[in-house]
Amino acid sequence: MCGIIGYSGHRPAVPLLIEGLHRLEYRGYDSSGVAFEQAGKLEVVKAAGKLAALEAKLEGNPCLLATAGIGHTRWATHGLPVERNAHPHLSQDGDMAIIHNGIIENFQEIKEELVEKGHVFLSETDTEVLAHLIGEERKAAPSLREAFAAALRRAHGAYAVVLLAPEEPGIIYAARMAAPLLMGVGVGECFVASDIPAFLPYTREVVFLEDGEIARIEGAKWEVFSLKDLSPIAKSVSHIPWDMQAAAKDGYKHFMLKEIMEQPRVVTDCLSGRLHRDGEGLRVSLHELDALPVPSRLHIVACGTSYNAGLWGQQLLENVGGIPTVLDIASEFRYRDPILRQDEAVMVISQSGETADTLAALRLAKEKGCKVIGLCNVVGSSIAREADVVLYTQAGPEISVASTKAMCSQMTLVALMAAYYGQRRVPAVKDSALLHALVGLPQLLASALPAMQERAAALALRFASARSFFYLGRGQCHALALEGALKLKELSYIHAEGYASGEMKHGPIALIDPQFPTFALALDDALYPKVKSNIQEVLARQGRVIALVQERGGKAPELAAEELWVLPEAHPVAASFLALPALQLFSYCVADYLGKDVDQPRNLAKSVTVE
Ligand code: G6P
Repeated sequence: MCGIIGYSGHRPAVPLLIEGLHRLEYRGYDSSGVAFEQAGKLEVVKAAGKLAALEAKLEGNPCLLATAGIGHTRWATHGLPVERNAHPHLSQDGDMAIIHNGIIENFQEIKEELVEKGHVFLSETDTEVLAHLIGEERKAAPSLREAFAAALRRAHGAYAVVLLAPEEPGIIYAARMAAPLLMGVGVGECFVASDIPAFLPYTREVVFLEDGEIARIEGAKWEVFSLKDLSPIAKSVSHIPWDMQAAAKDGYKHFMLKEIMEQPRVVTDCLSGRLHRDGEGLRVSLHELDALPVPSRLHIVACGTSYNAGLWGQQLLENVGGIPTVLDIASEFRYRDPILRQDEAVMVISQSGETADTLAALRLAKEKGCKVIGLCNVVGSSIAREADVVLYTQAGPEISVASTKAMCSQMTLVALMAAYYGQRRVPAVKDSALLHALVGLPQLLASALPAMQERAAALALRFASARSFFYLGRGQCHALALEGALKLKELSYIHAEGYASGEMKHGPIALIDPQFPTFALALDDALYPKVKSNIQEVLARQGRVIALVQERGGKAPELAAEELWVLPEAHPVAASFLALPALQLFSYCVADYLGKDVDQPRNLAKSVTVE
């Protein structure tokens, strides 16, 4: 979704805004723009397409003197992804510019009112309406700040909005309502942005803004006040432990590849401080959960890859943790009026912590009196702040739009939770094999990944011309099959469907032919014989099969398939962690071979902050 950056300080603002926008590219966008003050006047430059188009337009622009400005990457919601709809948008008099992420739901009504007053609009966006409304309010309001607040009080919906007006030189206003926005506090300079990487090279000191707050930055000075009555709000500054290396490609061709290869470290970090040895062996400590009662039922709510991580964990939470667990897609959950009892808990899983539907599900659960556990990667994100308890996955910044290492960390944490609840049951249920498997996982992954990358590249060459793919798996591998299919379609735009293997016979098998290959997860678990039969059914219909299998007693299993992809022997839970990067690497290699934009696939956003 849209990326936002605003700067006020002592450096040339425009190059810094562009640099920040590059670091927000991962959010997905289709046009971009900047506004800055030049000799007391407002200048706006925007372009459709990638940031390179904006940079080309800025070439030769004598904008280096500006030390305050705002920049935006737009992911189209209202209006085509063309230059006139790109942000910043100006007020009717052209004396103030805003950038916005979110949706102003009542923009049509406000627009009609403004048109009656003679306003002329140049775009189809809700944002331009808001810019005009601020300008209109300014006519009566005693100050810019009051006009900004008055306009926002009329806007319904979600917004992170940033305002620049030469009337107050070097000053930037920013406000938030249900869309991500935070402030970076540097030395003699301040930033506002939708995400931390935008200003990470300049500061790691962050102020998290809440809904209904307005920030004002002016060089070293910053203040926050309430949208409601403009009263000052005291805020604390948090230090973010990430460094720039964590948000850089580190020699890899793409962020996605780097993030896949980081998974051994991700598991280590996620386990760190959470597994301890005592007289009885390994014990899990998730002290964040200690204060909550063991829920009578757990509702996992999430979107996309995070949903697949939850689905993968369901069986462990039930079998090891003893907690009846149900899954919901966040965008459905919020509209189906779910029955939530107070002795149950809702667990929302979100890498970004900002996904609008997941956040809405969290709020609904709280309204119904349920405790909410947030499984989040981004520190200080909305979900992390609003959940009753937050468990951080500690995967580090994930830049590639397609999620990879985040799922690995979510699976690690869910497995720990299952063991944790097992421990809390009376009598305690111990699955020491599971905990030992988790401890050995970083080493296992690190030694397997290089060969997996080679195998994925070879298979990608053979299968990249397919137009459709099935991904099949049973049990926990069903969740992985869904994730494998999701990754392939996201990255390479090849149609792919993930299915529970046993469901094939109930319809999808009709599609099988030599042009419709199947990626079958046939790991060495209790369901292996069943999956083997399902593979036979595909082969019997001339389907091509890549089977992901595991060595048994040092040997590959006997299985008829066009391609056997053999993974090392491992505990069934650890095997899932090997299968996950195999699926990710296969999709990565296919997309790279086909020349697709791996880190920023078309139409996708990293963090979906609108419904
Ligand atoms: C978007 C991203 C996916 C992600 C999903 C959920 O669709 O492109 O990669 O899995 O949102 O995001 P979350 O941040 O809530 O995990």
